[in-house]
Amino acid sequence: AIDPLDEIADICARHSVWFHVDGAYGAPAILTTRYAKALAALARADSLALDPHKWLYVPVEAGLVLVRDADAMRAAFSLVPPYLRTVEGVGGLPWFSEYGVQQTRGFRALKVWMALRYHGLAGYRASIEHDLAMAERLAAAIQAAADFQLFEPHSLSIVCFRYVPSAAGRDPDALRLDALNKAILEKVQLGGRVFLSSTVVGGAFWLRACIVNPRAQEQDVDSVLDAVRDAAHAIVM
Ligand SMILES: Cc1ncc(COP(=O)(O)O)c(C=O)c1O
Repeated sequence: AIDPLDEIADICARHSVWFHVDGAYGAPAILTTRYAKALAALARADSLALDPHKWLYVPVEAGLVLVRDADAMRAAFSLVPPYLRTVEGVGGLPWFSEYGVQQTRGFRALKVWMALRYHGLAGYRASIEHDLAMAERLAAAIQAAADFQLFEPHSLSIVCFRYVPSAAGRDPDALRLDALNKAILEKVQLGGRVFLSSTVVGGAFWLRACIVNPRAQEQDVDSVLDAVRDAAHAIVM
């Protein structure tokens, strides 16, 4: 889900509060026509967390934070001795220790830079649109299946669902359904065909698919329900 960013930004502005957005997964969807409006208020953020290893297709791991006022960030973190501080009036590179808790770090920026160069704006837009289409396909397949329940509304490329055996009837036992889906999750994860995670919404346990691979194809998406169904049958039999 996407938080009401504009409303939160208004409240922050009214109370002079720093407006940070955790866009680790979802922020890149601003490039798509479908989510450009819902994410437009990212432009109002004082800082934005982004995980290039999620929807910017960078190999694990690379975290990124964009900060509007670098001096404010420096003032918050620069609690370091003079030998780790940028000297006023002297150019050169800044000390990372003045902008966060970590000083020494590997050259993760290289792979981020390479991915940005490789995909480009148009490439990212096309790949993220493709992931959204794959998520739509999965959601439609779940909706059409008698033995699956889709969590609605779904947004971005996350699709939550659960297996509901037809024998469970119209009003299935909630605890048994949770236990069955937990067992399915374990089997699917250990099976290695597809990877699903899980979540709890409204007290119920849901399987959770998140598509952030530009190479995901229709047959990959279709294999998700096959894998879940196979796991369910193996458990229920
Ligand atoms: C919105 C959001 N924030 C933060 C994280 C933390 O991710 P990581 O530990 O990979 O940086 C996640 C992970 O899925 C996420 O979805």
